[in-house]
Amino acid sequence: FEGFKIVATASASPKRIVDNDELATMMDTSDEWITQRTGIKRRHIAVTETTSSLCLKVATQLLKQSGLAANDIDLIVVATMSPDYLTPSTSAMVQGALQADNAVAFDIDAACSGFVYGMHLVKQLLIANQKKNAILIGGETLSKLIDWQDRSTAVLFGDGAGGVLISNTPDAGSFVSEQLRTLGNLGQYLTAGQTGAPSPFAADQTALSPFFKMNGRRVYQFAVNNVPKSINGALKQANLSAKEVDHFILHQANRRIVERIARELNVSMAKFPMNIDEYGNTAAASEPILLAELVKQKLIKRGDVIALSGFGGGLTVGTMILKY
Ligand code: ACO
Repeated sequence: FEGFKIVATASASPKRIVDNDELATMMDTSDEWITQRTGIKRRHIAVTETTSSLCLKVATQLLKQSGLAANDIDLIVVATMSPDYLTPSTSAMVQGALQADNAVAFDIDAACSGFVYGMHLVKQLLIANQKKNAILIGGETLSKLIDWQDRSTAVLFGDGAGGVLISNTPDAGSFVSEQLRTLGNLGQYLTAGQTGAPSPFAADQTALSPFFKMNGRRVYQFAVNNVPKSINGALKQANLSAKEVDHFILHQANRRIVERIARELNVSMAKFPMNIDEYGNTAAASEPILLAELVKQKLIKRGDVIALSGFGGGLTVGTMILKY
């Protein structure tokens, strides 16, 4: 195995929990509809928290767990589609607050594939630059991109952050294989976060909309067609069978999507842990939150083979297989 090792995992979520019954008081929906179609029961929603404050909490825990000092960190990457600002980047805000003076920091955006795309990037940068330690965080406050009158998207998303501290270990790394794909021609099926305002010179003076717009059926089809292909592609590269993977940590968008992918791969649902009931879809944060919970509960052990797989806006899809 080449590359890196995950040294620490952590997550942070807003305190405020909004359950399906509370949403049903705000829009024409029901706990039954949401549970049956998505598996979501609750989501954590920011009240005072921001993407950067959640990411900072994660970064602080990662340092504490690993025993490293802020000065030991060479690289900080935040994957997010809901940053506090376009500039400064969320990662620069985290770097500044941590006083991680030796770290280079920038954000990436690959929506719900952000964590896997981020793992790919961090791995390459650590190896190419012979750097030692990196922090990668997926962090989102998707609640600010939701039209709370639109039941077709409002029930799906939540806020949170999760991350990993990765160290470059040329001799005993974890990386097994990966496969990433971008299908930009399908991008219009899921959009959010038009930013800024039309300048007086712009031909179109229509106000820009921050809100999610999604063709749910198309995104669903995209996921169930492309995620198994992505996982199989990464498995093939590694000469592994799906049965040899101990945990499939999939992006938590919809319970039915995960169940369908498990069937497609002919693998027991016991290998597809889920926490979507508690968080909803937290985009780039969903896989690292789940990973951190499983490590904390000691359900993932050193040496286990993990397939991380994300899919979503872009449209994007990506799988990384690693030995924990
Ligand atoms: N409560 C009650 N009824 C609702 C709700 C709601 N919250 N939302 C929609 N409905 C109604 C619709 O109006 C429709 O009614 P109609 O038949 O009278 O027209 C009916 O329920 C069925 O709606 P569909 O949209 O066809 O429902 P579907 O079974 O496709 O489920 C869902 C919708 C859950 C969104 C599904 O398509 C899905 O999960 N798609 C994938 C979405 C996804 O994962 N997106 C995130 C990608 S990750 C990222 O990058 C952010």
